[in-house]
This record gives sequence, C-alpha cells and structure tokens, in this order.
Amino acid sequence: MARTADYQFGEYTFPRGWFMIAVSKEVEQTPQAIRYFGQDMVIYRGESGRVVVIDAYCPHMGAHFAKNSTSYVVLDGERIQGDSIRCPYHGWKFSPEGQCEEIPYSPSPIPKKACVKSWPVQELGGCVFMWHDPEGGDPDYDLPALDEWDDPAWVRWEVDHLGEMDTHPIEIVDNMVDKAHFTPIHGSAEAEYFENVFKDHVVVQDFAAGHRTLAEQALLTYTWYTGPAILRSRMDGDHPSIIQITHTPIDDGRIRAWHALLVKSADPENPEQGVAMAREYQEQSRLSLMQDYEIWAHKRPTFQHLKVMGDGPFGQLRRWYQQFYVPRKKAAEIQQKVNGTIITKGTKRDPWPEKKQEVAVEE
Ligand code: FES
Ligand SMILES: [Fe+2]
Repeated sequence: MARTADYQFGEYTFPRGWFMIAVSKEVEQTPQAIRYFGQDMVIYRGESGRVVVIDAYCPHMGAHFAKNSTSYVVLDGERIQGDSIRCPYHGWKFSPEGQCEEIPYSPSPIPKKACVKSWPVQELGGCVFMWHDPEGGDPDYDLPALDEWDDPAWVRWEVDHLGEMDTHPIEIVDNMVDKAHFTPIHGSAEAEYFENVFKDHVVVQDFAAGHRTLAEQALLTYTWYTGPAILRSRMDGDHPSIIQITHTPIDDGRIRAWHALLVKSADPENPEQGVAMAREYQEQSRLSLMQDYEIWAHKRPTFQHLKVMGDGPFGQLRRWYQQFYVPRKKAAEIQQKVNGTIITKGTKRDPWPEKKQEVAVEE
C-alpha cells in the first residue's frame, strides 16, 4: 500500500480541501462513528438540522461520543440537546463548535481545555462535505455549485456507495489527464479532442469522442476537480447529465468513494418515467466507473509514469496535486507555476464557454 510520503508530495500526509464524508439522508440525530484523515470522528445532526462533525473522544476521560448504547444518557435520550452533544460517560455537554458548555455535577468553572475539535461542514446535493486543513485554516475555496439540484427539470441522484479501497487518491486523480485509457477501458472511439486546463485549485478535462455505452452520438464531456477530491463531469450524451465522483482518505493509502449522476429529464411532464431513466443512466455511469475501479483496485502504485507521446500531462497534474499537501504559501507558488492549458489531442476550439465560466478557468 503506497503512502503519501512515497510520492513525495509535501509535508502533509493528508491534503487540504473539501471532502465528502457522508450521504445527507444517512446522517440523523444518533451520533455515528466515522474515520477520515487517520482520525476518529463523530457525525450527528443537531435538532436544528445542522450537521456536526467533532473529534470522537471526550477530553475529560476519553469516552467515545458515539460508541455507546447502554449509558442512561443514551437510554434517556439526552445525548443530543439542541445542536450540542452530551458525553455518555459523565454527562459533559459540548456545543457544535466543540466547546464544553456544561459539567452537570461540578461547581468549578469549565476548564479552557475542555473542548474538542470541530470541523467546518456543508451539505450540497444530498452529500455532506467537510473542510480538512492540516494548518487548521478556514476554507479558501467554495464547494462547486450545483444549481441543477434545485431545478425540477433535473432528476436528483441517489448516491452510490463505492466502499473502501487500498489505494492512494492520486492514482484516481491521475485519470484526469489519462487520454489513452478511454479506448481500451471504456470503449471510446479515438479521442477527437483532449485538453486539460490547470487553474489554481481546479483542473479541467475537456474531451470529445464516441462511447459504446453512454451515447450513440459523439460524447462530449467536460470534467473538473474542485480541489483534490471532488470530481464533477458534464456529459452531452443521449441525456445531458452531471456525474459526481468523490473520494476521501480514511488512512494514509486507503480511501472511501462515492458516485452519483444527475440527469436532465427527457420529459419533465412525466417525472416518474424520468426517474426510471435517470436511475438506469446512473447505473450505466457507475458500471463505466467500475471499469476504472477494477484497475485501481489491483494496480501497483505509479511513482513515475513511463510516459510516451500520446499520454496526457501526468507530470503537470501531479505538480498541481502537490499544492494540497504543502502550506498555503507554497501552494500559491505551485499554482502560479502550473496554471495553463495543455492540449494532448486536436486543435484549439471553442469548447463549452458557459461551463468554463462556471469553474472560473477564464478570467
Ligand atoms: S469522559 Fe466524557 S464526560 Fe467524562
Ligand atoms: Fe475512466
């Protein structure tokens, strides 16, 4: 199993950025144990509906906030109060920001150290995202917008859980520039056009080719990572659709991943038929991703690509990816160096200007 240090990306083991950590409808008031970035955490939904993610262990004597079913704090339904959580061991209560706000039995003032780490969380498109930053800073970019989620002409996705995999996330991100895998893995016709744009924390792939399963006509895809772990892809196949693929480190060299697909309904007057079509289309998209997945699950890590003409810009992609493993100051220097456009196949055209605007790759 390859670790971050083996790739020499930078001083941090886990990258800075927004990461998917849960499916919204699966987060309820009952606190659940989760593990990401080599840390045990707890996720719950407060009474206001707010999702809270805090360190799993109580600063008093280390009890796990979620892994309890027999304490009277749990049996009496006193664990979540407002958006705060009460420890099952001695009943200390913590705010969603992680500050202790009540020690039920002690007259002494609440010690300053009585707090747990709490992470910034946002929900978007039925998914819960968490900001992770080794320096502890606030988010320095936004989650990628998803206006179609609230547009009735689009059928909302049901997120696919792809489970855990022993791999480093870069082995998946490499896919962004991997022009040469489309024909052997996915059955695409020879690429007509293949371009990558690097712009700060975003990398784009603009691709045109035929595809065996997802379109009868030529398939145009416009795919981009916002940060190191959230991929979106717009496809103009038989039905316009938007893929979301997300992956989050659990431990160094192990990830969890999800897949989802929004589809524009062919017939907004007939929503039920639209849902059946969307589910079927999402399943085709998932199976297409599974073609990559089978490779990733069994491949040896790539520390140095044996690159030939016709391969995409793997070196540039990895330099871009490094920015998430170094302090912010250095990240800005990396961005300045890698920002730009690389066309691996075809000649410059006018691709999808409105989508370029959306990911802000053009000033
Ligand atoms: S260990 Fe949590 S209150 Fe004592
Ligand atoms: Fe692929």
